[in-house]
Amino acid sequence: MDSPAPKRVYIQNFGCQMNDYDVDRMIELLRDDGWSMAATQDEADLIVLNSCSIREKSEQKVQSAAGRLRELKQRGVMVAVGGCVAQQEGGRLLQQIPTADIVFGPDQIPRLPELVRRFRVDKRRVADTSVIDVEDYQFLDANPLPGDVRVTSLVTIQKGCDNHCAYCVVPVTRGREVSRPLDEVVAEVRHFVSLGSREVTLIGQNVNSYHGAGSVDGDDFAELLRRVDEVEGLYRIRYTTSHPKDFTAKVAAAFRDLPRMAPFLHLPVQSGSTRTLKRMVRGYTREEYLRKLDLARSACPDLSLSTDIIVGYPGETAADFAETMSLLREVEYDSIYSFEYSERPDTPALKLALRDDVPVDVKAARLQEVQALQREITARRLGRFLGRVAEVLVEGQSRLGQGQLCGRLGGNEMVYFVGDPALVGRLVPIRVDVARTHTLCGEIAGPALPDLAVPSSPVRRKRLLPVLAS
Ligand code: 5AD
Ligand code: SF4
Repeated sequence: MDSPAPKRVYIQNFGCQMNDYDVDRMIELLRDDGWSMAATQDEADLIVLNSCSIREKSEQKVQSAAGRLRELKQRGVMVAVGGCVAQQEGGRLLQQIPTADIVFGPDQIPRLPELVRRFRVDKRRVADTSVIDVEDYQFLDANPLPGDVRVTSLVTIQKGCDNHCAYCVVPVTRGREVSRPLDEVVAEVRHFVSLGSREVTLIGQNVNSYHGAGSVDGDDFAELLRRVDEVEGLYRIRYTTSHPKDFTAKVAAAFRDLPRMAPFLHLPVQSGSTRTLKRMVRGYTREEYLRKLDLARSACPDLSLSTDIIVGYPGETAADFAETMSLLREVEYDSIYSFEYSERPDTPALKLALRDDVPVDVKAARLQEVQALQREITARRLGRFLGRVAEVLVEGQSRLGQGQLCGRLGGNEMVYFVGDPALVGRLVPIRVDVARTHTLCGEIAGPALPDLAVPSSPVRRKRLLPVLAS
């Protein structure tokens, strides 16, 4: 028999926005099964670690987090390990992580409450990392309580990935690509908006290859954007992650044609060297990538851009690396995420016998170089907002306190300013007066912008541009 309340769960999350989305669903499922959230691990009856395996370091994080639970285990806490490491390792993870009672893969999230209930009764450690067939896969609908909804919400449009980027473990951990039906996506966006969200980020491993709309011309992602753009009460749409090879002119044109598209694009390039891109099996050259960026920038001249960079890929020469540096100079991204190559199990790189041959100190030096250059570029890019009034969607109170609020520009730049918490969820004009390393500070320059009844009117479109006035 179940022991009576209290049943409190603490969830520690690692990894990407897919995992963020999954954690929200776990919280909802456990909530419906009588669980409440614990503020700390010490107060929890159940600890869930949601793991990431994208790089070796990510994988080590869950191992050490699990190791730290030894003492709590002795006090009887249950431990469940989910996410991509769970999927990758399956039952082996029960040996590798002695503190784990339950191991569950991303496809088994709906079963989490049942697995926990069973363990409470029979105390038998269990691993369920079975993968649901593409044809049978059903997306879990979000089911948040009104008070739990953030101003910015994630909405999943796709799971898995059918690409074969040689370095990437995601196709192993998340399986084949499945698109969520268009009506389900739009319904979920509407649901979040009805509960107070004002911005959605559509998430998938390769959103550009979304095929859940059955559109006439096959450009289903463009069609999805168009449909989401019709949701009243929504202010901004973002999406991630895009694959350059599938980024179409029509998707680029959405920045110009759809009033709710935020002027922001994350388009991972990985390397500036065509030779390396080929060895990564990315499916585009440096020049083709730059042409995709041109498409996006010509649709939206003040687009903010971000990307992912891998340094020290197998066989990366000094000349290849110099091309990555020159690409960063040429494009001038607003921000980047950069990583040292990390060999992953069962990836195509291993099958192609691409040995992890760039010495660790060379990788580290290249990463430093990339990051130093990008710091300069980011500073320059943020500087363009100084002295200007820009539209900020207020996300919440800053953790720094002191009456500070925080929010983002359309281009995703974080802005801090003093203001009334009642402004959370509103679009506010902010005069930017300080640019820090990665963020901006400013002050309110006028009343919150009215929520227009016809949000797609030309007036609204103008207002959604990142900079209102100089
Ligand atoms: N090593 C280093 N970085 C990686 N990424 C994915 N796989 C690896 C790996 N094996 C990076 C890519 C990807 C981002 C999510 O993580 O840049 O876009
Ligand atoms: Fe996300 Fe990939 Fe990490 Fe899984 S391995 S959590 S899909 S980044």
